[in-house]
Amino acid sequence: MSDRPTPDGVVAMFDRIAPRYDAMNTLMTAGLDRIWRRNALEAAGLRPGGRVLDVATGTGKLALGAAARVEPGGVVVGLDPSGEMLGRARRAGAAQDGARLTWVQGDAQSLPFADATFDAVTIGFGLRNLPDVAAALRELARVAVSGGRVVVLEIATPPGGLSRLLFRTWFDKVIPRVGALVGSGEAYRYLPDSVARYPSPPRIAQLMGESGLRDVRWRWLVSGMVTLHVGQRGSAA
Ligand SMILES: C[S@@+](CC[C@H](N)C(=O)[O-])C[C@H]1O[C@@H](n2cnc3c(N)ncnc32)[C@H](O)[C@@H]1O
Repeated sequence: MSDRPTPDGVVAMFDRIAPRYDAMNTLMTAGLDRIWRRNALEAAGLRPGGRVLDVATGTGKLALGAAARVEPGGVVVGLDPSGEMLGRARRAGAAQDGARLTWVQGDAQSLPFADATFDAVTIGFGLRNLPDVAAALRELARVAVSGGRVVVLEIATPPGGLSRLLFRTWFDKVIPRVGALVGSGEAYRYLPDSVARYPSPPRIAQLMGESGLRDVRWRWLVSGMVTLHVGQRGSAA
């Protein structure tokens, strides 16, 4: 396994791959990423007028999907430290009418929002990039209102069997080569390493519980490879 990049190094890497990020996602997942994000938005229980925070928003795909679901009157904030990713999100959002969209440059581990600000908080393919997963989960829970949902969509290593073998071949062998072909070798070598470091799904559920979330549930999407965790913010202590 290669050395973990510094947090600044991770952001710089996302700045560099931003122009190719959406196309690489579609290619790597055969377009399934759209369905996984839809699953995440359904799990968030969004309603018209809702306030949503999408952390590690990247090019804003989840935030834009959320905006369509909280109309009329909703508010969606997308947060990411990468200026290049946010620039793309901002341009995509400008073409979408309806819910008010705001883009904020910031860090998931120290969110610039007051306690209990959002009805739902989402993070898609972002948690495994953070050095302190537990601290980030505490922050996501902190800014959710009592009863608000926190949704975590992430790539995770399947527990075993054929799906694990296919997964390892795809992530460890195929994706880094495709990434190198499109001039993003470093980022797509980092991807399998970040997935290998990501805690197991039961451990993520446990950390969510320890962050003040209750009724934490999780499931595999597409027979292992992508996980969806959902928890509800308990009442403040
Ligand atoms: C794999 S992309 C996911 C983007 C988007 N959520 C999606 O569904 O495609 C991971 C994102 O995490 C962001 N990120 C990296 N470090 C972060 C941090 N400390 N806090 C918040 N986001 C971070 C990156 O800039 C990048 O945009």
